[in-house]
Amino acid sequence: MKILAFAASLRKGSLNRKLIGVVTDILRELGGEVDLAEFHEFDMPLFDGDRQAAEGLPPGALALERRMRAAPAMVIATPEYNYSIAGPLKNAIDWVSRARPMPWRGRSIYLVSTSPGAIGGIRGLWQTRIPLEGCGALVFPDMFALPHGDRAFSDDGKLTDGAAADRLRQQVLGFYRLAEAVAPLCCGEARSDADQKKQQEIVRALEDESRIQPK
Ligand code: FNR
Repeated sequence: MKILAFAASLRKGSLNRKLIGVVTDILRELGGEVDLAEFHEFDMPLFDGDRQAAEGLPPGALALERRMRAAPAMVIATPEYNYSIAGPLKNAIDWVSRARPMPWRGRSIYLVSTSPGAIGGIRGLWQTRIPLEGCGALVFPDMFALPHGDRAFSDDGKLTDGAAADRLRQQVLGFYRLAEAVAPLCCGEARSDADQKKQQEIVRALEDESRIQPK
């Protein structure tokens, strides 16, 4: 299964980029086809409804949308800013949410975070779930927040705390298995007519009947 992964930090020395490296190593061991992106590839202006009406989505948002559509699953390593979601990530979620069909819908997403602080960004992860779930993404129930990220990695990019490494591996395995199981129904290539019919029913429930995500 293809998985899009990126750290939502533009900083050269980003700790979250180190963490996404650890997660993608595990995913590859599990047989995942990882598309590891740099957040810079999705540079975009602040959301502006007038600009969207005049020009549509900016190139950075279109690039993110394109990479998302090719992968039924995503992993995002994100910093916590001021106890909440990181602004640049929220801006990207908002721009991409204006594309149709809704690119976030049905996509399996695993959220991880690290920070030099003692609780590793868990408050930001809870806030990050909200817009993603509002857009219909299937955010994995467990999230991984790595405390003291400034001293949690060895020189070769591994986690130095064995217990934390085991917990991460367990979560990534659960995420990968679940994402693989739901992808054919939720946003992957339908493997049969029955799967395709179910996908259409999901779209009808979210768009036509409930109007949660209007066309
Ligand atoms: C932070 N940082 C931070 N850390 C934290 O644990 N809780 C917080 O609420 C915040 N708030 C915050 C706000 C802003 C604007 C900045 C720039 C930073 C510190 C943050 O965790 C630290 O800079 C990380 O190293 C950022 O992640 P990357 O860039 O290393 O991936």
